[in-house]
Amino acid sequence: MAILENPILLPFLRLMVRALIGKDNLKLYDTFDWQQTNSSFGDTDNNYPQYYSSKDFHGIKGGYLNAIAPVTYDAVTKFAAPPNENKLRQQAIALVEHQPKNILDLGCGTGSSTIMLKKAFAKARVTGLDISPYMLVMAEHKANKANLEIDWQQGLAEASNFADESFDLISIAFLFHETPVDISQVILHECRRILQPGGQIVILDGNQQRLRHTPWLIRLFREPYSQVYAGGNVDNWLKCADFVQVKTQSVGWISQLTTCFKPAQSSEN
Ligand SMILES: C[S@@+](CC[C@H](N)C(=O)[O-])C[C@H]1O[C@@H](n2cnc3c(N)ncnc32)[C@H](O)[C@@H]1O
Repeated sequence: MAILENPILLPFLRLMVRALIGKDNLKLYDTFDWQQTNSSFGDTDNNYPQYYSSKDFHGIKGGYLNAIAPVTYDAVTKFAAPPNENKLRQQAIALVEHQPKNILDLGCGTGSSTIMLKKAFAKARVTGLDISPYMLVMAEHKANKANLEIDWQQGLAEASNFADESFDLISIAFLFHETPVDISQVILHECRRILQPGGQIVILDGNQQRLRHTPWLIRLFREPYSQVYAGGNVDNWLKCADFVQVKTQSVGWISQLTTCFKPAQSSEN
């Protein structure tokens, strides 16, 4: 698909992207005081891991550390999770086997799955964690608009500050195709620490088998880590982190859903 790297086509592609993003989202950009809203999520300048701060995810300079990312993300994701992004997120929620009380959405971004989780499990305490203060500003804006109480926290998925066994459900949507494989594995070990015995993880992400055969898609969405992600196997990563009942199924055109549990009787006990 060298056609997608043709510089003559770039202006057309950019026009297409602008059309996808829509005027409303760009207007939204102007409604936030990014400087002020950022500081409410703490760390804005330092301490970002290099694998994250050095990459221009989706071709946006600075990636998720740029206020353009949150106002364009939802529009672009509709096309990156065909045929129906919301349905895929609902399918992920439908895999939840017990009524959860404490839910964590890791790498929550603009909060699309977090908000659906709160709507599905209204009595549960729901936390959304992301490293990007910009994405969290948008997530909080969406939750406020929907009148939902969600705890938004800035932090690293691989080194969170949550206490051991804080959650009985962890949702991870579209995170692992954007982290190096060794970091994804550390994140899963962190999940094991903060998940209660018997707790469940539900992962929605790109279909590793299909992406292996569609490298042009990875180039189209300008994903720095998707190729190595596609070469890996989430089931094996989960088994290495001692999760059980690991199951992955294909969903949609290019996505997959994985679920697993922390053993009820923790092996550390
Ligand atoms: C592709 S977006 C997915 C957002 C959201 N989960 C969704 O389903 O739309 C990936 C998100 O993960 C966040 N992220 C990446 N690496 C992270 C890390 N190590 N810790 C916490 N968040 C991270 C990014 O800032 C970004 O918001």
